[in-house]
Amino acid sequence: MGKHMYPPAPDMRKADTQNLSDGELFYIIQNGIRLTGMPSWGNGTTHDDQDSWKLVRFIRHLPKLTPQEEQEMQELNPKSPEELKEEQEEREFLNGGQSDERTKQSHEHNQHSHQH
Ligand code: HEM
Repeated sequence: MGKHMYPPAPDMRKADTQNLSDGELFYIIQNGIRLTGMPSWGNGTTHDDQDSWKLVRFIRHLPKLTPQEEQEMQELNPKSPEELKEEQEEREFLNGGQSDERTKQSHEHNQHSHQH
């Protein structure tokens, strides 16, 4: 989303962001950055403060993300109907082009021939 903005949303793994202090990150998250696309997320409640500190921790962790964590996050992203359809088609393709119905049937057969 930030790719098409000016100024563009920063890559928060880079030194520009990582060299900011925790307090600076917190302030930016709470207040946003004027004259840019960066909105403010604070609403003055303590609950909200806690969330912003969690985001500070999260930003600190970004440079050390493991491939597993990245995969996990990708799976949590909301998906459009087109993406869901594409995934379904991919699954069908990997199952040898069978529809869901046929796949279920062939699983039952496989139970007997031990081909799992
Ligand atoms: C949980 C969500 C977000 C967090 C925690 C967050 C955090 C931050 C932080 C810490 C910075 C400063 C980084 C730096 O200066 O290196 C920043 C900058 C920025 N953010 Fe976000 N941000 C979020 C969402 C967004 C969204 C949704 C947009 C746009 C729609 C956005 C647009 C920008 C832009 C354009 C800047 C750069 C401003 C500049 O270059 O001066 N951010 N953000």
